[in-house]
Amino acid sequence: MKTKILVIHGPNLALLGEREVAVYGNFTLGEINEKLQALAKAENVELEIVQLDGEGEIASKIGRARKEFQAIIINPGAYTHYSVAIRDALAAVAVPAVEVHLSNIYAREEFRHKSVIAPVAVGQISGFGINSYLLGLKAAVELLKQK
Ligand code: DQA
Repeated sequence: MKTKILVIHGPNLALLGEREVAVYGNFTLGEINEKLQALAKAENVELEIVQLDGEGEIASKIGRARKEFQAIIINPGAYTHYSVAIRDALAAVAVPAVEVHLSNIYAREEFRHKSVIAPVAVGQISGFGINSYLLGLKAAVELLKQK
C-alpha cells in the first residue's frame, strides 16, 4: 500500500497571496498544494491536503487520521501558540507530525515565539516560505523510510 501523508493548513492560510504579503509571500495556497503534490509524486507517496479554520475541526481531523495516514504535516497557524486541543490531538494519535511555518516565528512578535505544538511534533521547520512545506514533506518521507 502507498504511504499516505496528511497535510493540514490551519486558519487564514486560504488567504495566502493576499494576506500580509511582506511576511508570507505572494504565492497562493493552491500553488503550495501543487508543489506539494508534484513532490509527493516524485517521492511516490500519496497526499491528502486540507485547509481548516476551526480548532475543533483540526482536532477531529487529526483524531480520524490515525488509521489512514502514516505522517502529518501541519501548519497550525495562530493555533500554534495556544491550542492545547490540537497539541493533545497530536499527542493522542501515534502518527508522527512535522510542524511547518512559512515565516520564522522566532523572528516575529514575542507571542509567536512559543509553540505549544512543537513538543509533540517530531520537529519544526520555520521561516523558509513555501519551501517550509516542501522540506516538511521531505522530512516526513525520510522519517518513514527509517521506520
Ligand atoms: C504561521 C505563523 C503564525 O504565527 C501565524 O499565526 C500564521 C502563519 C506561518 O506559517 O508562518 O497564521 O503559522
